[in-house]
Amino acid sequence: MKLTRVLNREPVWPPPIWLMRQAGRYLPEYRELRARAGSFWNMCNSAEMAAEVTLHPIRRFGFDAAIVFSDIMTVPAALGCDVTIKENEGPVLAPVASTAGLVRDQARWQEALAPVYGALKRVRAGLDRETSLIGFAGAPWTLATYLAAGRGRDEQKAAKLWAYRDPKGFSELVELLGECVAFHLIKQLEAGAGVVQLFDSWASALTSSGFTHWVVEPTKKIVSKVRSVHPQAKIIGFPRAATLAGYELYARETGVDAISVDASVPMRWARQALSPRLSVQGNLDPIALVAGGKALDEAVDDILAALKGTAFVFNLGHGVLQETPIAHVERLVARVRSAG
Ligand code: CP3
Repeated sequence: MKLTRVLNREPVWPPPIWLMRQAGRYLPEYRELRARAGSFWNMCNSAEMAAEVTLHPIRRFGFDAAIVFSDIMTVPAALGCDVTIKENEGPVLAPVASTAGLVRDQARWQEALAPVYGALKRVRAGLDRETSLIGFAGAPWTLATYLAAGRGRDEQKAAKLWAYRDPKGFSELVELLGECVAFHLIKQLEAGAGVVQLFDSWASALTSSGFTHWVVEPTKKIVSKVRSVHPQAKIIGFPRAATLAGYELYARETGVDAISVDASVPMRWARQALSPRLSVQGNLDPIALVAGGKALDEAVDDILAALKGTAFVFNLGHGVLQETPIAHVERLVARVRSAG
């Protein structure tokens, strides 16, 4: 498997490619199944439908990895939060002010998260041996921002205020989230995932000491918990839009095998500063993929030229956008696969 080889620090060329949010509304087969399912959450909670959706982009584009179709909000749901996903907006839930009342019983976590494990088992059985299977979870900080605010769109102010005013209470929340996230990653590895990715989508909101406290330290703990059960586990971290200093610290301290970087990161810098230590993943601008044509080709070539000869995974800097033309994804895959 190309992805696993790269995560073992081998410079495989052309590099493996997969895309964050590679399943979703830009695909007609997804829209059709979603209409039948009634809602996104119904799809996530059906192992059969989630497995089917996971395979859509593999059948169409032949990516080197499938990522299980699910959402980061499955962990808050397992903790007992009543989550809904609003179209074009994202998760909405009742804000949480302490860990009192959140579920701590692992048997209940297992039960709530079972559809994810069922989907992974089905997908693994339906994939060829060369295609990796990725499980994932939201990282504690990003999940905490949703729990504190009840939604995702206020610059993470509620979580930051909580952390400043009541660091002990906020630590308890981050700790509990970390336990459930580690549990979930371990169970996904046991259900057939060969690789797991941690999404810290709101890592950008923090001060430098906040980043150390709420992103780096909880991630380091999760990595060591997962490795204590599965020493061979391959883990990718995505502290989205961390500053360059933030990415460097995360790469040095957390113990992940690979770091996924957003589109603002100069890949020549990543080569110098990150590649000597771990594998790098990224970072095509999802809007360049919407634009297509010469702009797309040049952006792809720049990334490939910067990382050539290193252990690198081609991906976007963030998720595929809904308006992305399928032909542009085909063009991207062909260009990466013909990289010299
Ligand atoms: O990468 C993949 O293909 C796997 C699937 C995946 C989804 N969400 C499916 C999804 C993954 C890895 C996620 C992670 C996720 N979910 C993150 C972290 C990554 C990131 O984008 O920063 C976050 C912050 C969420 C929370 C969330 N869920 C948001 C912001 C949204 C978008 C709302 C919208 O309508 O655009 C969702 C819903 C969601 N998750 C969709 C998909 C395909 C759209 C659902 C639909 O309406 O069909």
